[in-house]
Amino acid sequence: MAIKRFSDSKSSPSDPPKREQKAQTNRKFPKKTADEKQLLTATATDEEKITNEENIRPHRLEDYIGQKDLKEVLKIAIVAAKARKESLDHLLLYGPPGLGKTTMSLILASEMGVNCKITAAPALERPRDITGILINLKPGDVLFIDEIHRLNKMAEELLYPAMEDYRLDITIGKGPSARTRSIELPPFTLVGATTKIGALTSPLRDRFGIIERLRFYEPEELTEIILRTASILKIAIAPEGAEEIARRSRGTPRIANRLLRRVRDYAQVKKEELITEELATEAMEIYKVDFKGLDWTDRLILNAIINQFKGGPVGLEAVAAATGEDAKTIEEVYEPYLLQIGYLNRTPRGRVATEDAYEHLGY
Ligand code: ADE
Repeated sequence: MAIKRFSDSKSSPSDPPKREQKAQTNRKFPKKTADEKQLLTATATDEEKITNEENIRPHRLEDYIGQKDLKEVLKIAIVAAKARKESLDHLLLYGPPGLGKTTMSLILASEMGVNCKITAAPALERPRDITGILINLKPGDVLFIDEIHRLNKMAEELLYPAMEDYRLDITIGKGPSARTRSIELPPFTLVGATTKIGALTSPLRDRFGIIERLRFYEPEELTEIILRTASILKIAIAPEGAEEIARRSRGTPRIANRLLRRVRDYAQVKKEELITEELATEAMEIYKVDFKGLDWTDRLILNAIINQFKGGPVGLEAVAAATGEDAKTIEEVYEPYLLQIGYLNRTPRGRVATEDAYEHLGY
């Protein structure tokens, strides 16, 4: 299966959000090191985008660990589409970053025996960006658009007839002499991925035949993923070592695999042959990832809510100002997991730290 990437020259879909300016003016806490910054954010690092992730991604549905409900739905869709000799229905995948939306899109293409073209909404700025991709699709191809909630109006309107009737309507010329031409497209499958389903317009959302949410993974599933990755990368690890890393991986495979690589580095430097539970714990202490998988920034956010706002409720912008973190980063990167483990509540009046958060931080 061929994988094509259409990347944005200005910013990559998975670049960490830009927050340096604000961080410098508002920062009241010591700066993090680069490692501390990247270790637990589920966005892919450049290293991961270019190298390792391609080797460790599963290629078949049966090798994909976790997301049982999603796999069930997709298995039926694949069998039915194949029997009818049709392309798969358009699919919208939503949920926090790092849970496997791109991987699932690649698996779908592989299972259907077609190509997968990968792009992201910020790379589709001009009409020719999206028309160029659509015109070059082959029958049945999967087109994966990451961050689909960030599509501009023009790109979105070009997608409507493409999704509905496999037709591209392009305008030639300008002003009174402008004419519309329709170009027939081959049947294809659009896989849209988003962390913010609420930000999609309803006409776009309504054009997806299947809408599925990806959930955080259970520690047992992450342990299985870590053992699978370790075997591909030839890393010697005891099951208890994998469990220790899994517990600290915020329910996210991308983080689990990243922590595994860091623990491998640690083992290598310590000249240890096998990653045991003890070694993994030691490494995690050095990388400042606690037993719940919280890092420096999670603790910063919770401490700020507790100390500066009496535990909340407090608005997102106030938390951002108090911590020097970007509001969008807090909302999209840090909060989903804090909400998931019950350390934070979102109320109409703002964010509230829970009793469990107080306990975890030793108050
Ligand atoms: N690597 C990353 N995510 C995975 C998953 N869900 N199953 C198997 N391997 C993975």
